Amino acid sequence: MQVLVAYESRGGRTRRAAEAVADAVTARGSKALVKTLQDTTAEDVEQSDAVAIGSWVEGFVFFNVGPAKGALQAIERLPTLGGTPAAVFCTYGFEPRATLATLRQALVAKGAKVLAENASNRAHPERGAAELAERLCAPSGGS
Ligand SMILES: Cc1cc2nc3c(=O)[nH]c(=O)nc-3n(C[C@H](O)[C@H](O)[C@H](O)COP(=O)(O)O)c2cc1C
Repeated sequence: MQVLVAYESRGGRTRRAAEAVADAVTARGSKALVKTLQDTTAEDVEQSDAVAIGSWVEGFVFFNVGPAKGALQAIERLPTLGGTPAAVFCTYGFEPRATLATLRQALVAKGAKVLAENASNRAHPERGAAELAERLCAPSGGS
């Protein structure tokens, strides 16, 4: 099983979160392909059995808070994900608000089956990564 871990990061925290997800996937005996969302190709998606998509939280703390605009644009450009097991994650500074819900909706609109989500504070970007990978890679998860 190959899991594509695709992320958008500006300052490196979401990259660290993505690497932690990839490490947990690898520890479970699956293969992880880690890429920025910008660099992710249609082939990367088609060759993967599951996807984990992450973004940093962009906004004005109390309003317009959500996934980074670039992340949403990159998700829109992905090929359809008909039935592909998926997970969404983000790193935030204050409060992620609807970020995970917006990421989930964007993937559901692509046809993905979202099984897990995790928001981690930027002080601990790797927190929750192992549980996310466990839910995404669980044998029953993909059926
Ligand atoms: C321009 C900008 C806007 C941000 N807006 C928010 C916000 O509205 N809410 C929040 O919780 N964090 C906000 N953050 C904090 C980032 O989401 C957080 O630091 C994140 O971990 C950055 O990830 P990165 O290092 O992968 O870029 C903002 C950061 C920047 C640079």
